[in-house]
Amino acid sequence: MSDLPRILVVDDDPVVCSVVTETLRHTGYSVDVAHSGKEVSQFLSSKTYPIVLCDILLPDTNGLELMSEIRELNPDTFVILFTGHASVDLAKEAIRQGAYDFITKPFTNDEILEAVQKAEREQRVHFSTITSSELRILHELTVSRKMTKFSKKASLSYFGKKTAESFSADSLRIYLLNKTETMLEKTVDIGHGSFADEVTWYFLSSRTMQSGGEILLDPSSVGNTDMAGTRASFMGTIIPAGEKSLGVILAGRSQRRDRFKTRDLKLLALYAAELGNQLQNLKMTNDLLVNNKELEKVNLVTSRFSLSLDIPTVISTVADGLRTFIPFDVAGFFVSLENGTPYNFVLMNEAITREKVFASLKKQMSRKIGKALASQLLADVHSEVFIGKDIRSFENSPEFTFTELSDFGKIHGWLVMGSWAGRSRLFPSSKFIPLLLRHAASAICNSLQYRENHRNYLETITAMAQAVDAKDKYTSDHSRNVTAYTLALADKIGITNQARKDLWNAALLHDIGKIGVPEVILNKPGMLTEEEYVIIKTHPAKGCSILKPIKAFKNLLPAIRSHHERYDGNGYPDKLSGTDIPLFARILTVADSFDAMTSNRVYRKSPGVEFALKQLKENSGTQFDRELALAFIEIIKARSYKEILLTYGSVLFENQQGLPY
Ligand SMILES: [Fe+2]
Repeated sequence: MSDLPRILVVDDDPVVCSVVTETLRHTGYSVDVAHSGKEVSQFLSSKTYPIVLCDILLPDTNGLELMSEIRELNPDTFVILFTGHASVDLAKEAIRQGAYDFITKPFTNDEILEAVQKAEREQRVHFSTITSSELRILHELTVSRKMTKFSKKASLSYFGKKTAESFSADSLRIYLLNKTETMLEKTVDIGHGSFADEVTWYFLSSRTMQSGGEILLDPSSVGNTDMAGTRASFMGTIIPAGEKSLGVILAGRSQRRDRFKTRDLKLLALYAAELGNQLQNLKMTNDLLVNNKELEKVNLVTSRFSLSLDIPTVISTVADGLRTFIPFDVAGFFVSLENGTPYNFVLMNEAITREKVFASLKKQMSRKIGKALASQLLADVHSEVFIGKDIRSFENSPEFTFTELSDFGKIHGWLVMGSWAGRSRLFPSSKFIPLLLRHAASAICNSLQYRENHRNYLETITAMAQAVDAKDKYTSDHSRNVTAYTLALADKIGITNQARKDLWNAALLHDIGKIGVPEVILNKPGMLTEEEYVIIKTHPAKGCSILKPIKAFKNLLPAIRSHHERYDGNGYPDKLSGTDIPLFARILTVADSFDAMTSNRVYRKSPGVEFALKQLKENSGTQFDRELALAFIEIIKARSYKEILLTYGSVLFENQQGLPY
């Protein structure tokens, strides 16, 4: 296919047309032929011609008028006129009105060819030349000033001003697509646009966007009949960014000035491409900054998730953290515990009716995890109120999303978030919501796992304590009884919180060292020999050795080691005295001795409660800490020891609330 331009030959003389056409086609040009102004209009409605050869006299018009129409449609067209009535004045007038050249009839084939080839060469030079002022502005827009160093608004404004200057435009506008890419928004408006109204600008921007490329326009072409006669000139091009368009840039000139040419449009497209690049870079830079800020925020929030292993604390922290990113109206943590008791915790807006939430939650949860499990998890839900969230209407049911709380393939439960505005509102812009949810799920799973591990420890150690008790058939409940008395005394003297939990465990495990004492010695009916007594006395230290590897029981060791010390310093294993003996050990000594004296032993029957109380009193200050012994006596006098065993013994293990988690 020839890359030579298509040429329109216009003459009412078929012989002239035939000769010219033959000459041009022979050289490789594509040629269309018109014999009248009407036919010319038909050709121009569908094609553009860089070069038109036109007779000055036509049946329905004259060459000068036709040239004006042709250049109105395409100012870049080079018109070469020919006529048989050579006249210097006519030639001058033709050139003044914009004709590229003038040939007199009769002409030779070479004359025609020479004129056309000269026009073609000049046209090429015309399109490929860039002026020094244009080069300066291009440099300013592309090299010397980068958009990322300034605000977007300032940069666009600068870009608009420079572009308007480059094209001597009376007005320049930049329209950018909005965030949802559904509308063009006027972003830059430079110069006086009074020669075109807003409707015209709107149509021009839409038309340019629809064209997907560059466009030279006048108001009449966009249907603005009011301005059809103004001869204002516009050009527009899309602002490209890869395969997409970010918007359009439009320039306008009033009728007082020359119309924009194709060459202008090509240069504008170059500017627009640079603008597209810069906008894209700016967006990437901004996205990166936003992402970094979001990531920092997510890190800050998630770092708080692991500050505690206490389940209610973790859930509260996680809920607060999630709320800073996810605008849920209601959220719930539904966890199936190992022993089958569901752990429910729902955070709600105080204005939300509980019934409405749970009816909807049950329905959606049943669909997600099955009716039976949903009913189980939703039974007896504990609620905590969120305050200060503005929910305007509760007419409809909220929609819920479910996030699995699982680790190592094991599902612990679900994090449920609900919104009256629908699921889509829950996860807005942040890309880090999945990361946040993973951290949330992980923190909750960790706390659950910790709880389970701790429980396993306790179950194991309790089993060991029970194994010790089982070694002596006459003292099968000794550890449990000592624990009950210890807790009663702890409550009497005001030991609370973690210290009470430590004391509780110390009491439960105080004789754990007896595992290392032969059963024949523990169950010996008669008096122990000196050697046997020495062995018995090793059990406090052995107990410490057994528990020492378990970090969680670090605080119990002093009490276990010293529970056979005497206040006067005659006990074992370290012969500590007075307040050198740890408080917990002094408490254990009282509780331990009381249970020993009120229980039957293999070598004797119980001497009875009164005897035990008398012994406690008589030995206070020598064997026992005086104040603790007297306090304990008060407890037993106020309530029967059986009542104490019943009260404290029944909550020793079954009730999780008291366990030292
Ligand atoms: Fe003991």
